[in-house]
Amino acid sequence: MKLIIRKNHYEASLWSAIYIAGRINAHNAKNKKPFVLGLPTGSSPLIIYQELIKLYKEKKVSFNNVHTFNMDEYIGLSKEHPQSYRYFMNEYFFNHIDIDPANICFLDGMTDNVQRECMLYEEMILQKGGIELFLGGMGGNGHIAFNEPGSPFDSRTRLVTLNNETIEDNSRFFDGDISKVPSAALTVGLGTIMDAREVLIIVNGKNKAKTLKKAVEGGADEMLPVSCLHKHTNAAIVCEEGFF
Ligand code: GLP
Repeated sequence: MKLIIRKNHYEASLWSAIYIAGRINAHNAKNKKPFVLGLPTGSSPLIIYQELIKLYKEKKVSFNNVHTFNMDEYIGLSKEHPQSYRYFMNEYFFNHIDIDPANICFLDGMTDNVQRECMLYEEMILQKGGIELFLGGMGGNGHIAFNEPGSPFDSRTRLVTLNNETIEDNSRFFDGDISKVPSAALTVGLGTIMDAREVLIIVNGKNKAKTLKKAVEGGADEMLPVSCLHKHTNAAIVCEEGFF
């Protein structure tokens, strides 16, 4: 696992955006196959999305050959719901770039067949040749996507129950009201993320420093989901100075 440390969160995000754009450009220069990109929501990737939009507007990158898979979605929220992850992605990223909407893949939190939805998501990823680069964030308890502590490192896309800490953390997006936060979600598994050819995790928030330090300096431990990256051969964590 590589650690990329920049002066502050903005610099860490800028580095990540330039890196992702560079990977897309290098891929497109070599082949016609789409670049398959995994994406997260949350506050941590926001500046990365802003900087990627800027790079697109400056014609330094195009997303017309990019296919995306988002990590997760709340159960019971439609894509029109302002707190759904699909709405978030449209608002902060997809609506501002030249991606073909047909190439955006999302878990459907309104599905009436959870098992089928999760199985099809895994199948779609495989059909597109696997994920080239999975960008992710980290929750306060070390979760990636909605893989809470205790999630098996080989877990696949599935229905999960959110733990109290995550519900409390995420209530900031629901007027601070924990009763409005869905208690379940669909999420790609840690195994799904680990199958990506490259994983990049952006960590933001000094409150996460202790957890991150433990994950980096300790070994792989299923009670600390992000530590699964120790087992990946091409994974990096990007954060600002002062975390270690
Ligand atoms: C949610 C998402 C995660 C995200 C995490 C951290 O729980 N499911 O994918 O990484 O929040 O969010 P933030 O970046 O806002 O701290």
